[in-house]
This record gives sequence, C-alpha cells and structure tokens, in this order.
Amino acid sequence: MDESTRTHPGVDREVARITELMREARARTLRLIEPLSDEELRTQHDPLMSPIVWDLGHIAHFEELWLTRNVHGTVEFGEMPGIYNPFEHPRRVRGALDLPGRDEVVQILNEVRERVLKKLESLDLEAGDPLLRDGYVYAMVAQHEYQHNETILQTLQLKRGAPYRAPRGVALPEPALTFEPGAMVRFPGGHVPIGTDDRSVAYDNERPRHIVELAPFRIDVTPVTNAQYLEFIDDGGYARRELWSDAGWAWREADGAVSPKYWQRDGATWTARMFDHAAPVDPRRPVCHVSFHEAEAFARWAGKRLPTEFEWEAAASYDPERDTRREFPWGNDPWTPALANLDQLAFDTAPVGAYPRNVSPIGCYGMIGDVWEWTSSDFGGYPGYETFPYPEYSEAFLGTEYKVLRGGSFATRPGAIRNTFRNWDYPIRRQIFSGFRCASDD
Ligand SMILES: [Fe+2]
Repeated sequence: MDESTRTHPGVDREVARITELMREARARTLRLIEPLSDEELRTQHDPLMSPIVWDLGHIAHFEELWLTRNVHGTVEFGEMPGIYNPFEHPRRVRGALDLPGRDEVVQILNEVRERVLKKLESLDLEAGDPLLRDGYVYAMVAQHEYQHNETILQTLQLKRGAPYRAPRGVALPEPALTFEPGAMVRFPGGHVPIGTDDRSVAYDNERPRHIVELAPFRIDVTPVTNAQYLEFIDDGGYARRELWSDAGWAWREADGAVSPKYWQRDGATWTARMFDHAAPVDPRRPVCHVSFHEAEAFARWAGKRLPTEFEWEAAASYDPERDTRREFPWGNDPWTPALANLDQLAFDTAPVGAYPRNVSPIGCYGMIGDVWEWTSSDFGGYPGYETFPYPEYSEAFLGTEYKVLRGGSFATRPGAIRNTFRNWDYPIRRQIFSGFRCASDD
C-alpha cells in the first residue's frame, strides 16, 4: 500500500481484516455450490425457496448496494436493482425470472467484489460514520452472505432430483457425555441483562441491552433428542388433539404431518435423510426439522412448555452466581471446531453430549449449534429499539406473526451466531434446521 495515502497501520490492519472476512465468506459460498450443475442452480426446488442462483445474484447485489453505494450517500434499500429485490419478487415466483447461469453469476460476484475492495481503499473508516465504525457494514454484508449460505442449504435439503452431494469436510465427534432423558437445570430468576449494545456486529433487533425480570424456571439440559421425540410419536402425539393449539392442529391437519420433515417410516423403523445421507433415525441426536407447532405439542405431552426467548438467553449467557454474562454459552472466546457443531461442513447434527465444552454457566449443553431452538416468543422490538441501518432487516417483520428461534444450527456460520442473536420464522415452517428444548415453571 502507498504510504502517502495511508499513514495509520491500524487502518491498514482493518482493511486487511475486512478483505479477509469478505474473501472467506465467498470461498464458502463457492464451496457449497461447487457440486451443482447449471440446471440445479436455476431450478426452483420448492415454492418456499429461491432458485440458488437467485441467492447468489442477490448476495452480489446486496454487497454492491451496501459497500459501493450506501457507504457514500443516503442509505437506500429500495434501490436494490430489479430481479434481486426480495420484496418485489417473493420467493415462490423467483423460478420464473430471467436468471443467469453459474459463469455469469460468478462473474457478477467477482466484479462487485473488485469494486468493493477498490472503494474500501478510499474510505475513511475512522470518520465516525456509524455504518463504517468498527467495520459494521462489512460485518453486516458478510453475515448476509452467511445467512444465505444456510438458506441455500435448506434449499439443497429440499432439492428435487438427485440428492445434493454434500461436500463434507468434518467428522463429528462421538458423545463424551450422556444425559438422563429430559433432565433439567434450574435458573434462579432475578434481573437479567438481555440483548447487547454492540454496534460492530450485532443487528438492530438485538439492541439495546435491557434488564428483564425473570421468575425462577427450569430448562432442559439438552435439546430434545430423537429418542424422546419417538416416544411422543409412539404415544400418539400427532393424533391427540388436546396436545395441540388450535393453530397447531389446523396446520397438522392441513399438512398431514406424522413425523419431522425428512423422516420416513420403513416397517418398524424410521429413516431420516440429511442431504445425500439417509439412515435409521439416530436416537442420540437432537430432533431436527420440526415446526413450532410440533415443538409446542411435544412440550405439552412432556408436561412442560417452550422457554421464552429471554429464558433461553438467560440460560445460555447468564451466570447468576457471579452476575456476569457470556457472549457464547462456553464463554467469550470465539468459536473453534472443538466447541460446538457450527459451520456447515459436518452437514448433520451431532449426538447430544458430543461437545462437552459447549455448556452454559447454569449447565445447559448445546445451546449454540446443531439445531435452531424454537421459543414461545413473538418477534418483537426490545424497549428502545431503533431501526439500523434499514427497516427491511428487522422492522418489517416485527409483530405476532413470527416466533423467535435461538442458537443457530450445524448449518450456521460462526460469524452469524451469538447468545443475543435472534432468528424468526412462521410457526409452521420446518424446512429450517429447527429443534427445541423445553422449560417449565419452577
Ligand atoms: Fe438477503
């Protein structure tokens, strides 16, 4: 770099950090799509999901919008060009758009990236612009790509035709710990800090940090396993009206669900499929691909309930003895592969107890990684919530239509998950990598 244009080694380091962040995000995206043909990229595999090439074009255009245009002027989201504007083109119609092939979309991705890095060289990262401070907007764009990586994996699990040949790169550990099924730990209640004031990576919906008063409660030590869920099925859980809410029962009747998505009964045994791997349901793994309604019915069957998102966050982050909180269940250190099953490359959940260090202060295991966990909470704004930097990320979705999920899944990239991170979806959705744990009043 020319010393006359950059005199602060700190700024050079920041530019290098951002460049590497962006490069690494892209490398993963390309790795995930590598096994797919042009046709597989262009096909709309399910009305719920975009053709994968749409995700790719949208990743490029989101990056272009934020890192070449909005960094210099008024923030505009409505300016998103044509076919990649998610609000103009809802998912179910994206298969009919005039979409590019792989070479063309990769070229678009590369061209945008070149312009972004050129622009980065000329920006004053220290001028105090809240978009640029601590590289916020770059973290936001990287997280956007991470989130589309997980969306792409949901699509690939739904894929029509030959199953996705998952490019597995990680072998899952065997369980080091065993748990009594349904074992719970107690949270003593009290005034608990929830959310964050971080402005370097956190989303607007995670802010501000505020104090929530919680009554004492109990919460499962692990996510509900397939073994437990099979007992619910065998006990007629899907046929017992009294276990389901009105909305849940309406969904169950309309959908005809009798098991988690991607399970198939084969005589006396159930088989589960994850991408191109089908095997008898592993009783030790957390149940995956269940809707909020299924989670709620199971909890009622078990004589429990789902935790609120505040209870979930308290159980994941708060140490009631020391009055301290952690960024991740295991502490404040960033994720490493030994800590939790995140980052996609195992392409499956791990048996509970496989990550003995993935434990929160009160003794909950596996809160981050493996499966997203449904909570009973609607997706609302925290007291003092302020939209930043654009209303289409959170604000457009606040209300009672969506339920909050916490903790990320095996398909979540580590840069897109922390104790305060809030995901949300319709209570009927189960193409997501979703499971749950139960809670109860003390
Ligand atoms: Fe997006």
